Amino acid sequence: MALFNFQDEEALGSVASVDTTNIVIDVENIEKLVKLQVNHLAVLQSSKPGQHLIGLITQVTRKKLDGYNEAEGEQESDFELNLCRIALIGTLLDRDGEKENIFRRTLESVPEINANCFSLEGEHLTNFMRIISNTAAEGQSLTLGKYTLDDHAIAYLNGNKFFQRHAFIGGSTGSGKSWTTARIIEQMANLKTSNAIVFDLHGEYSPLKGEGIQHYKVAGPGDVEAKKTLDDGVLYLPYWLLSYEALVSMFVDRSDQNAPNQAMIMAREINNAKRNYLEAGGQQDILDNFTVDSPVPFDLSELLDNLNAINIEMVPGSRVPKQGEFFGKLARMIARLENKLSDRRLGFLFQGGDDVLEFNWLEKLSTGVLGSTSENGRGGIKIINFSEVPSDILPLIVSLVARVAFSVQQWTPSTLRHPVALMCDEAHLYIPQRSMADAADDISIDIFERIAKEGRKYGISLVVISQRPSEVNKTMLSQCSNFISMRLTNSDDQNVIKKLLPDSLGGFSDILPTLDTGEALVVGDASLLPSRIRIDQPNNKPDSGTVDFWDEWQDDVPADRLTIAIDNWRKQSIQ
Ligand SMILES: Nc1ncnc2c1ncn2[C@@H]1O[C@H](COP(=O)(O)OP(=O)(O)O)[C@@H](O)[C@H]1O
Ligand SMILES: [Mg+2]
Repeated sequence: MALFNFQDEEALGSVASVDTTNIVIDVENIEKLVKLQVNHLAVLQSSKPGQHLIGLITQVTRKKLDGYNEAEGEQESDFELNLCRIALIGTLLDRDGEKENIFRRTLESVPEINANCFSLEGEHLTNFMRIISNTAAEGQSLTLGKYTLDDHAIAYLNGNKFFQRHAFIGGSTGSGKSWTTARIIEQMANLKTSNAIVFDLHGEYSPLKGEGIQHYKVAGPGDVEAKKTLDDGVLYLPYWLLSYEALVSMFVDRSDQNAPNQAMIMAREINNAKRNYLEAGGQQDILDNFTVDSPVPFDLSELLDNLNAINIEMVPGSRVPKQGEFFGKLARMIARLENKLSDRRLGFLFQGGDDVLEFNWLEKLSTGVLGSTSENGRGGIKIINFSEVPSDILPLIVSLVARVAFSVQQWTPSTLRHPVALMCDEAHLYIPQRSMADAADDISIDIFERIAKEGRKYGISLVVISQRPSEVNKTMLSQCSNFISMRLTNSDDQNVIKKLLPDSLGGFSDILPTLDTGEALVVGDASLLPSRIRIDQPNNKPDSGTVDFWDEWQDDVPADRLTIAIDNWRKQSIQ
């Protein structure tokens, strides 16, 4: 049965002007006009039978115009201009082949002048939303919550489309991004072989539990001391996995006049060290093809010894030995390297012990962080806690994990590939704009931009989450085709989202600052209609770390807190 059976007398008014997707309605019925609300839906008669056009109300005007009545020779003021502007967003077909009531996001026709326009409300609205929801729902569907317009209708998203072309979740702090992410993660975890890595920068997602979910933590000083391993959920990301560029950015000071020499020697010596490792292990087939960036372990103390030798090398002179070409030129690089090696906070890079130098260690790491539940037996959603990684090298380390994921996907034969999603919380910290970027950031941006552009071919998807859309790399955002935008108060951030929305919906984004906590504007491939959705709460709530100052100041203070803090600070680990 056709969904809409409007009678002409129910009309709000009729079309006064048509400009591609924007329609102006002359509203005759004042009672109806005052009830109209921006962002509500309207239905228009189409020029084709069996079709209705659906639009979003973007503006409602009621204006008394001062007109001059020539006959009476006086000012006349009861002339009213009652208009309603509508952005067309799709077509409802009464039937399409076998199927009844199909909503398409395309405009199959345009309305004619004087066509009737109806407001979509009450039962019509409920039925329409149900249709939208069910069309999107096939198989085990992804649901975020309920439509604000009709809280009986469940808002489904198309899970394939959501991950196919990358998604963005934005909103000011406290607007509900982490809860929304948790809600998505919980549903992913229910799928038999779901596969995702969650970059959890503050350990916020540690309360999330379930069979499909496992937790890792990048080793902090305390974990290194306790010799915790991958089996304890502690992750080492050894230096030899870093790209040559990343190593240079860590150890070579770009402002040093010897920087080019240092970088060159570093490349040569890392190459040698990797070759020695492969030769010792008899890995002939790899020896033929490896590069400085190949994921091959090498002995760092051997590298350091060789650099030291070059730095003090004497060569035969005409009469007496003279200083070698690089004499003294590597001193600062060596000092930096030694400093980092002894930095307790960097134990996850340099103090992984003999295990991480084993040839098959990379496979263990990959099974852990890229395996689905059936492969690692611990859960396909891997939440990695980066809270103990120092902030200056955070971009290097997060992007290292992303690089491992991308490389593994890229080197998997296409018939064996299994898709993986990277959920990037607080993305502005490691995928910033180029203009604000330093060397470490550049390396991270390169990797994430590459995944954004090419990831789809290799079955790797990004979900970028940030409270500062205006600080997140633009190229990244422009590659996203799904937006879950929560409350945004900063106008720079609002503008970024506005620019990403289709032109006809420009006005819709005006609601961004007024959204309630846990409420989102959802636009994109995965939802049939741009919609305002009230997100359901996740079963296990992320730990958003909200401190109730006023209440806490009325409680007792924990004993010895300052002594313990100072002690931890000195030891660089929280006991
Ligand atoms: N869907 C929701 N329904 C109800 N309350 C929510 C919802 N999402 C978030 N909140 C509330 O807002 C707080 C902050 O949410 P959170 O997701 O941590 O914000 P963000 O990650 O954007 O900073 C939560 O502690 C919770 O009280
Ligand atoms: Mg958060």
